[in-house]
Amino acid sequence: MKKKLLVLVLAAAFPLFGQANPIGDYAPSNLSMAGDKTPDLKQWRDANSCKGCHPRQWNGWQGSMHSIAFIDPVFQAEWAMGETETKGVTKNLCGGCHTAIGTVTQTVEFKSESGKFGGFTTQAVALQGVSCEVCHSVVDTNMEHTANGEHGNASLVLANDGVKRGPYDDAKPRGHKATYSDLHTKSEFCANCHNVFNPVHDNFALEHTYDEWKKSPYAEQEIQCQDCHMVPVEVAVRVADEMKPADKLENHGLGGPAARGGVKRALVHDHGFVGGNAVIAPLLGVTNGEAHAEEARKRLKTAASLDVKVAGTQANPVLEVTVHNRRAGHNLPTSLTFIRQIWLEVIIRDTAGKEILRSGSLTAENALPDGTVVFQDTAVDIHGKPEHKPWKVAKFSNQNTIPPKSHKTVLYPFQLPAGVSEYTVETKLHYRSFDQSVADLLLEDKVTVPSVEMAAATQTYQGLTLQK
Ligand code: HEC
Ligand code: HEC
Ligand code: HEC
Ligand code: HEC
Ligand code: HEC
Repeated sequence: MKKKLLVLVLAAAFPLFGQANPIGDYAPSNLSMAGDKTPDLKQWRDANSCKGCHPRQWNGWQGSMHSIAFIDPVFQAEWAMGETETKGVTKNLCGGCHTAIGTVTQTVEFKSESGKFGGFTTQAVALQGVSCEVCHSVVDTNMEHTANGEHGNASLVLANDGVKRGPYDDAKPRGHKATYSDLHTKSEFCANCHNVFNPVHDNFALEHTYDEWKKSPYAEQEIQCQDCHMVPVEVAVRVADEMKPADKLENHGLGGPAARGGVKRALVHDHGFVGGNAVIAPLLGVTNGEAHAEEARKRLKTAASLDVKVAGTQANPVLEVTVHNRRAGHNLPTSLTFIRQIWLEVIIRDTAGKEILRSGSLTAENALPDGTVVFQDTAVDIHGKPEHKPWKVAKFSNQNTIPPKSHKTVLYPFQLPAGVSEYTVETKLHYRSFDQSVADLLLEDKVTVPSVEMAAATQTYQGLTLQK
């Protein structure tokens, strides 16, 4: 009893004492509040209220994966499944990143009667997932206090004081208070949500995009996530090719006012945060969703390239396909590496069109055939059984993603039929957000998962020699 009293007295005498370990109020999410610890939904504003003064930022954000992070039906279905299977552990865990404001205001509720597996609801700005207010209320990271001392599981400190934190130290808007935040200009800002650990199994690193970036040549050149994901794809391509941060590129053309009537800034950021997902926004039919999907397809088409050659001997030729990760600042694929699929399709035909080898062509059921080379990680549970549900994944039994500015080579031995010396080799690299079986399990309506062709090459050979 006495001990407890002493702690209470100390905490009252030194307000900072209580902040020494600010995590825990929304466990297992690492989210915490700065200052006023009793947040109310009304303290944050709807994204649409920013639109009038920040049309450029709103246009990017609206329809982005961030804007639909809460309503995303694939996420909702999996989250709901987790609620039942983990008896509530996943509510704050998943909510911490997918609706930080819903989580700190504890306005997220589970409704067992909605959806295939039940569903979560929330209100007002909390429905807007990773909204303007979530990001611009971030005061700090609390990563030093997390279970593993790393960025992840929403290791963010949020404020509800109405001040917008951002990249300018001289902004004096009339609409709201503003203050400078160095964190917002760095990958460490994104890292708090783009590293996901499984607290149910030893904090296994389920997603580690930030960690992949951290050891990449991009991090060495101080090229941040923002330099590729907060600029148009054409500029991101230049960032990766010239190996310079976006604001160091000549004639990037991104200057202008950051708010209606504001001064001219050297670089105003896109807020589309486009990655590879071209499925969910169009499926939901949200405003700007199709434009984001188009930008995602464009980004995917710039990420990789293929080198193809035939080696071996005349009697035992071997097709060698090398896949280069040219322009992703992390592994290819990244984040949900056990769900996203990047795979090779290879077809060898003689001049009459007769097939000599085929690998990786989707079946009539939109499935990948056995033997397909897929760049992804294989997730397993504690018993080593294949498992996709994030709270059950304990490790990766096999890892096969391609690190940044690196490559992987795949060998396809084949035999030329008697009398055939000339043949064509068709090679394609495809991407899709998830397997058809994942869509069939999680989504209520039948959705055929689309694929995006990332790179392709067709060549003709005579024996082992490439024909012009
Ligand atoms: C995922 C987090 C995130 C979301 C969501 C977000 N922003 Fe930002 N925003 C940032 C970051 C990070 C920067 C600073 C980038 C830099 O300078 O490197 C920024 C910069 C800005 C700036 C400064 C000018 C510029 O664009 O560079 C304004 C204004 C702004 N955001 C407004 C908004 C508005 C309005 C919304 C919603 C419509 C929004 N933001 C949504 C992260 C976010
Ligand atoms: C640390 C932050 C974080 C936590 C915690 C988190 N997620 Fe996510 N989630 C993300 C990010 C970031 C992405 C986007 C990755 C990508 O698109 O490649 C994502 C994407 C997803 C997707 C893919 C959606 C789609 O349309 O393809 C699903 C499903 C998902 N999360 C489910 C969950 C579930 C279930 C939980 C809780 C068990 C959870 N997430 C916890 C950050 C988080
Ligand atoms: C009445 C107009 C107005 C409204 C409404 C408005 N802003 Fe601003 N905001 C501005 C102006 C003006 C600036 C300063 C731009 C500059 O200095 O270049 C600014 C700057 C910012 C910055 C940069 C701060 C910094 O110091 O780096 C952020 C972030 C921001 N606003 C977010 C928001 C968000 C989020 C909303 C909606 C909740 C919003 N704003 C609504 C006018 C407005
Ligand atoms: C508060 C948590 C949070 C922060 C901060 C955050 N993200 Fe995200 N991000 C998410 C979640 C959650 C998703 C996935 C939404 C979904 O798929 O339903 C996502 C999705 C994305 C995607 C789209 C992935 C795809 O498959 O197309 C990109 C790209 C992305 N984020 C980049 C960034 C960058 C760059 C930053 C830092 C400037 C950042 N994010 C900051 C939570 C966050
Ligand atoms: C050099 C440019 C570059 C940098 C730096 C970069 N990215 Fe990416 N990112 C890409 C490209 C290209 C893609 C599309 C290919 C892919 O999906 O991996 C992508 C895809 C993504 C996706 C979607 C992955 C998927 O397929 O589901 C997420 C999420 C993401 N990036 C987050 C981040 C975060 C967080 C950082 C910083 C830690 C970052 N990126 C840094 C270029 C970059």
